[in-house]
Amino acid sequence: MDNTTQPLLRAGMVGMGMIFDETYRPFFETAYKKGMFSRETGDVEVLLAAVATRTGKRAEIYREKSKGIGHPFESFAGEDSVDQMLKTDLDFACVATPDNRHFEAAMKILEAGKHVLIEKPSVLSLDQIDQLTALSREKKVLAKIVYHKLADPDHKKLRTLVVDNVLQHVNNGYCSLLEPKSISGGQFAEWITGRNPGTYVACHYIKLIDYTFGGKLKTITATGQRGIVGPADGPTWDSCQMRMIYEYESGREAAFDIHTSWVTPENFPGYVEQEVQFRFDNGVWNGHARKRGVEVTIEELTPIKIPNSMNNHFNGTFIEPWGERSQRGYGIEIIEQFAREVAYVEFGSTGDRDSRLKEMAALDYNDVSADRQSVAAVAALEAILEHQAKGEPDCIARVNDPNGGLVLYKPGVAEPIVLYDGKV
Ligand SMILES: NC(=O)c1ccc[n+]([C@@H]2O[C@H](COP(=O)([O-])OP(=O)(O)OC[C@H]3O[C@@H](n4cnc5c(N)ncnc54)[C@H](O)[C@@H]3O)[C@@H](O)[C@H]2O)c1
Repeated sequence: MDNTTQPLLRAGMVGMGMIFDETYRPFFETAYKKGMFSRETGDVEVLLAAVATRTGKRAEIYREKSKGIGHPFESFAGEDSVDQMLKTDLDFACVATPDNRHFEAAMKILEAGKHVLIEKPSVLSLDQIDQLTALSREKKVLAKIVYHKLADPDHKKLRTLVVDNVLQHVNNGYCSLLEPKSISGGQFAEWITGRNPGTYVACHYIKLIDYTFGGKLKTITATGQRGIVGPADGPTWDSCQMRMIYEYESGREAAFDIHTSWVTPENFPGYVEQEVQFRFDNGVWNGHARKRGVEVTIEELTPIKIPNSMNNHFNGTFIEPWGERSQRGYGIEIIEQFAREVAYVEFGSTGDRDSRLKEMAALDYNDVSADRQSVAAVAALEAILEHQAKGEPDCIARVNDPNGGLVLYKPGVAEPIVLYDGKV
């Protein structure tokens, strides 16, 4: 820690793509301007001190843009950019690289003894979550994941009604999230080969279901379609559908379907179309991103430059009634919350550092140790699609069955494939 009198957190950033620009950048800029205050910690300075990217180009563009509104940061590019970044004086670092490149960077950050915040999906296998959890405990730092949908006020209300037993026993439900073609065709073109939209966005809903309703994940099935982003017999997926089956303490079950796509027409009114429905013993919950929000048409701007329906709850740029320009929403709050948890561990006035660390690591909405069932669902989806791409469709994954923690069964084949031995 820095030994100035004002508490200071120096942050690192791995990856400066779309999500950096949407959520991390506004968080760091606001923290630079206003600090981060709580009674526990006092006024904490939070600075974006160093960044690591593949080419360094976006870091240079942002360096220009951030003059006067952000801390001057060091930039490292290329193969060893993360190692270089970690030689600077940092307290925590965030990982926002493509989905299959989170693990390596996160392990390096933990190895260096820094707190880490990892974009969703945390990692793609249970072995990786085991390693991250063990290393974070050994190094006595936090390892957390960004699941911003848990901070969406609608999802907070859903969970509140469930926790208070107003909505009773979920039986089944569906979630869908459809992204436009520009995501798969432009934005992610560099890393999309072999990837699928389910891992990329279904993980939000996997976590929402897992965290909101609890229970034990038992079974995962999935399928998908190809032919737009890549060849119809290749490993890259246009859309996919998965089903998860949970069992609760009562012995009763629930089933959830999650549909995702990143090939929706560009001018689709939803732009990013999100919908959920959960059916309970005594109620039905419907959530629809467009129905809760606004629809706007502006000549020559909508729907391509400005979406028709904007999610101003997630992230919006505003002129506040008191005149100030701001960027805020739950997508940014969730990152600030992590920084607050780090500040509490390092500078809090309650108990000692160990007890504060334990307290923050026990928060199961974002700690890596609480992500096991979500990672199992993602790992199962990845394995099922991989087999489908090899001409072996319709596999089923079972969790904690007699053959192992995560086990894949091919139709008509008795021998199981054990994806993870330990208990999920
Ligand atoms: N929370 C959300 O709503 C949300 C939304 C979009 C994306 N994401 C997640 O954020 C992550 C990044 O997505 P994005 O949309 O910003 O992607 P992007 O393609 O726009 O940006 C990726 C960034 O990572 C960098 N990078 C790639 N490989 C690297 C490496 N090995 N070392 C260092 N830097 C590397 C690239 O230079 C680029 O700056 C993904 O895991 C994605 O699932 C989250």
